[in-house]
Amino acid sequence: MDYMENINRFEALLTSVNRPGMDKLLAFIQKSDFYTAPASTKYHLSCNGGLLQHSLNVFDALESVLGPIEAPKPGERIRYYKVAWNNVAAIEQDSVIIVSLLHDICKTYFYAKSTRNVKNEQTGKWEKAPYYTVDDKMPLGHGAKSAMIIKQYIDLTTPEMYAIWWHMGYTDVTDPTTAATLSEAITRYPLILALHTADMMAARFMESETENKAEFRRTNGSAAFYASDYADMPTLPDEPPIFEEATPLC
Ligand SMILES: [Fe+2]
Ligand SMILES: [Fe+2]
Repeated sequence: MDYMENINRFEALLTSVNRPGMDKLLAFIQKSDFYTAPASTKYHLSCNGGLLQHSLNVFDALESVLGPIEAPKPGERIRYYKVAWNNVAAIEQDSVIIVSLLHDICKTYFYAKSTRNVKNEQTGKWEKAPYYTVDDKMPLGHGAKSAMIIKQYIDLTTPEMYAIWWHMGYTDVTDPTTAATLSEAITRYPLILALHTADMMAARFMESETENKAEFRRTNGSAAFYASDYADMPTLPDEPPIFEEATPLC
């Protein structure tokens, strides 16, 4: 994992999006723990920079789920989501960038570092080993929380908001009524299913616990960012910002 390359790529992609307020959203991200947070406590990319790497992985996966960029009209940048060779949705490249890179922004101010005793099998001694735990400083849920945070700074198109809101798909749904609502939402906004698919592809196929799987590493030979590297990371604020000027969801 190349930490600086990931930051540069992430910021270049977001700043390529023409959306008022993106500079303020980027400033929020830079001040938060987004670049240092893990993607999970233990399942995938449970390491410094894991959330950043996962977000880029979902972008790469979503691009592969959708077709290449096309320009039906001059200046347009559209990807078509095809099912059985028919287009079910035309998705702007800006939307591809926004939903993939920001779908898990809810994981800012979400994790904390702790230590536990682990036996060193070679020496037989017990040693303190760092691990991640959940310490949600903004307990607002998951997909809906991501949409809420983003909406503090930029407008979302309707398909973008639906895709981010429902990006966990049926894995987050336990009751039939909500499942039926999600099914209706997917039918109306296929980007939900495309993003959910890309999210699963990233977590299941591309990522191991502390690094992308070898075939999905962009930079060969770079050191992985393990929890012990945390001392080199920037100092972060303790508390998330308070929502004061939220524009209403519509
Ligand atoms: Fe998520
Ligand atoms: Fe995700």
